[in-house]
Amino acid sequence: KMVTAVSKLSHSSLQGHCICTSEIRKDKCGSSYLYYVMPRYSEIQEYMGVPKGSLLVLRLKYFRNLFLVENPWNKELICKFLSELPKPLHTYANYFEWKSALPFIKLKAELSLGSSSFHVDCLVGEGAFAQVYQASVLDASNPRNNQKVTFKVQKPANPWEFYIATQLVERLNPSIQHLYIHFYSAHFFQNGSILVGELYNYGTLLNAINIYKKLPEKVMPQALAIYFAVKILYMVEELHSCKIIHGDIKPDNFILGERFLDNDTCDIDSLSHGLTLIDLGQSIDMKLFPEGTAFTAKCETSGFQCIEMLTQKPWNYQTDYFGIAATVYCMLFGTYMQVKNDNGIWKPEGAFRRLANADLWKEFFESMLNIPNCHSLPSLGGMRKRLKDLFCKSYAKEIKFLRNRLVVLLIEHKRSRK
Ligand SMILES: Nc1ncnc2c1ncn2[C@@H]1O[C@H](COP(=O)(O)OP(=O)(O)O)[C@@H](O)[C@H]1O
Ligand SMILES: [Mg+2]
Repeated sequence: KMVTAVSKLSHSSLQGHCICTSEIRKDKCGSSYLYYVMPRYSEIQEYMGVPKGSLLVLRLKYFRNLFLVENPWNKELICKFLSELPKPLHTYANYFEWKSALPFIKLKAELSLGSSSFHVDCLVGEGAFAQVYQASVLDASNPRNNQKVTFKVQKPANPWEFYIATQLVERLNPSIQHLYIHFYSAHFFQNGSILVGELYNYGTLLNAINIYKKLPEKVMPQALAIYFAVKILYMVEELHSCKIIHGDIKPDNFILGERFLDNDTCDIDSLSHGLTLIDLGQSIDMKLFPEGTAFTAKCETSGFQCIEMLTQKPWNYQTDYFGIAATVYCMLFGTYMQVKNDNGIWKPEGAFRRLANADLWKEFFESMLNIPNCHSLPSLGGMRKRLKDLFCKSYAKEIKFLRNRLVVLLIEHKRSRK
């Protein structure tokens, strides 16, 4: 299976290294993804001019058995994975395939999906890929039961997000599954899909951050930012431990549900905080790749480009570390994080001098943004512990008051939008 890739590599530092390409594939747009295997320990300073070379210009150091895949979101690759699943999606009881086109979604009108009828209430959100509507389940036998759900409507159809959700149900401990988006059912049409999911009624973290921007304090109080950071670190930690990379961690992909209103203890260890991670559309299942796979593509369509993408280094879990940093930054400063390289160290722009706990935050961002390589990822649990200690020492007393105030602000905001 040795392909001639080596002979086409111009850089002399590759001489003598055994690199074989297990597969080169092209998608319809003519861009190819390359799958490299580096079976031996190699010290590669730099190489360029790989076949279809514009895709890869890497500066790599000290790789041991690293598998490089260009683009984990490549459409053909995703199709291939879905077609080879040991348990195909159509075998799930809540998976439905229809021969027809995606139904037209009309607001304030009825819509039936299979044997269920819904009333489409309103549009609740829109991302780079989908529109999300609130709908009510119409239950003929019990007209007073108007359970609310969401429709995530996407063109073309997106079975991948549903696949990732099924994997989370299989891999995560049931006691923490409510921390991630739950889909009741998935409907696939010729030209699009509707994922019927749980409704989280109190807006995204981005929405909460923006509410504070309009208030005199301008940013979310630090007690709340630390509280949410501890929860976020835990959610991503658990996701990574079952080999899923979220791939699009940002404030608009965390959402507050009913539980946030009910949870008045605000215990830092509790799992009923009401913050949920949504949008699994860009997630990567590392179980589908060989052990130690890293990627080289940049996310172009949405989301943040992590340091590795900006500097053309391979990455895997780092993209979520960057997303966590960007989300926490947004809570602390109320603006999106911009990064700069300061004498070889990546740092966020921003006046840390005026920030409470500046030293801890500097360390937090430096460890999240300066990851040496795919084999030495910082411990999310360690960082969470440090933030938790700070929370217990300095913020536990004010959290209840601040949470109650945020609840009021969220309810007011919701009313004002109606
Ligand atoms: N379950 C949900 N409950 C309430 N709002 C949601 C839900 N899922 C998504 N949204 C809203 O819709 C937006 C887009 O949904 P998302 O799944 O992130 O789609 P995209 O892949 O297009 O980013 C979110 O940022 C959020 O505002
Ligand atoms: Mg999104």
